[in-house]
This record gives sequence, structure tokens and C-alpha cells, in this order.
Amino acid sequence: MIIYFNGQYIDEDSCYVSPYDRGFLFSDGIYEVVRYTGKKFFEFDSHFTRLDTGLNFLKIKFSQKDKIPDICEELIKKNDLSDKEALIYIQITRGISKPRNHIFPDMNTLPTVFINATLLPKHDKELENGVNIILDEDIRWSRCNIKTISLIPNVLARQKAKERNAAETVFVREGFITEGTHTNFCGVNNGCLFTAPLSNYVLPGVTRKVVLDICKKINIPFKEEFIKEKDIKLFEEFMLISTTMDVTPVIQIENLQINNGKPGMITGKIQKEYFNILNSV
Ligand code: PDD
Repeated sequence: MIIYFNGQYIDEDSCYVSPYDRGFLFSDGIYEVVRYTGKKFFEFDSHFTRLDTGLNFLKIKFSQKDKIPDICEELIKKNDLSDKEALIYIQITRGISKPRNHIFPDMNTLPTVFINATLLPKHDKELENGVNIILDEDIRWSRCNIKTISLIPNVLARQKAKERNAAETVFVREGFITEGTHTNFCGVNNGCLFTAPLSNYVLPGVTRKVVLDICKKINIPFKEEFIKEKDIKLFEEFMLISTTMDVTPVIQIENLQINNGKPGMITGKIQKEYFNILNSV
């Protein structure tokens, strides 16, 4: 595949990153994952705004950031993905610090910019049949609203899910459910959708925004309120939502079957409307 790396389009196998890159040394960078539908980028501006928020929070200056949309278009073309479902991955780190030093490098240090385009992994079965998930303590830092590449708690928790044949781990912080390792989380109680409020403890998901807009549009009441772990059994439905998982029904949490192990009706309605919007030109 052809990737974009620091101003050039090159073959991914000929790309090398310095061991002094601060992404490698300190996880000092941010990332985004954007969906390409086979016709268009989905919610590109929302992803771009979040990327910009992350750059500002980390105080990384990237003067070329306005070129990102064109680079993404170009990568889709160069990799023959124009009529396919794909994902764009964008990662920007603070660049090179040599020798290693926590303090920011010289002001003129260029950030390291890596962007690639890959085929979207198929997940039709999960969308149709739903998935099992597990719960784990949220040991992440207190700026989960910033999409940094520092993802150790997410990596460990996602691996734990895999080892227990689950699709995702959802984090619990002091009894309150925050979000998944790479997804936002919603539940339905008495016909009302609940999802964690925006704060420094959850990522402001682009899919989350789309789902809440869908609720408004098709008259599903919703509350941006935490679901408590102890209340899970009171809920009829749950779903995972993200750029890579779309709107995926949850049919089991730990040993508790949800909705008799069947995707819920409200989840189905939201999923249908979500794909209508995603696939509209
Ligand atoms: N993850 N919460 C976390 C912790 C995430 O990493 C993500 C996205 C989301 C959903 O955000 P969005 O709807 O904007 O994709 C919520 C990406 C897809 C990833 O890390 O692969």
C-alpha cells in the first residue's frame, strides 16, 4: 500500500521511523480514524476538528494541517479504494527529540505525520447478530477526551476481551460505565437511550454525535447520563458505537444475557437509520 509519510507518498514497506521519534519514545502524539464509504468521507469535518483539538491540547504545531483532506483523497485514489469501504488512519507526533528529553524539542522541529488508507474490515455478522462484551476497571488517565496514541490501558483491556472471546471491554470508573476501549457505549432503559455525558472521561465520539442526532430525528428519547454498573440488569438493550464498529448490538455482558441474546429493537432502528445516513451521497 502507498502511505503518506512526512510530505511524501511512499510504499509502506520502505517507510522507517526514527527511534528518537517522540511517538516511539513518549507516545507523544495524536491520531484519528476516518471512514470512507466507497463514495465519500463520513463526517470528515468532525474528525478534523477533534484532531485539531488534540494538536492544540498537546501543543503540537503542524502548519500543513489544512492539506490533510487532500492527502486523504489522494491516498484513496493511489490505493484503488475509490469504490470501496475504507478507513483512513492519521497519526501526528511531536517529531524527533535527539537525545531523548521530556522537554519539547526545538520550535522548528517538524511533527512526524503518517496517514494511510486500508480496506474496512468486514463485520457484518457482528452487526446482525450482536456481540458479547466484558467489563473492566477504567485505569486510563483523566483526559480521555483527547485522542492520544497513548493507549496502553485500552490495549490491555482489548486483549483481555479477546482472551475471553468477547468483542470489546467496556470500562467502569467508580461504578459508572464510561466507554469501550475503542467505542462509545449506549444502553436503552424503558425505551430511553442512555450514554455517558461528554467529559474528560470519554472520547467525544463522532458516531455518538450521529447516533444522538438520529434519536432526535426518529423520536427516540435520550439522556446523556452515566449507566451505573449495578443497573445493567435494568436495561433492555445495549450497543457499541464507533467509526469501526458502526452501531453494533450487545447481546451479553459478562455472564448476563441481554434481551434473551437477541439484538434489541431500538438498536435495530438506530442501526438502520445510521446506514441510511452513512450510505447517502
Ligand atoms: N476509536 N471511544 C474511544 C476510546 C475510541 O477510541 C473511539 C474510536 C470511540 C468512538 O469514536 P468515533 O465514533 O469517533 O470513532 C470512542 C477508533 C475507531 C480507534 O481507536 O480505532
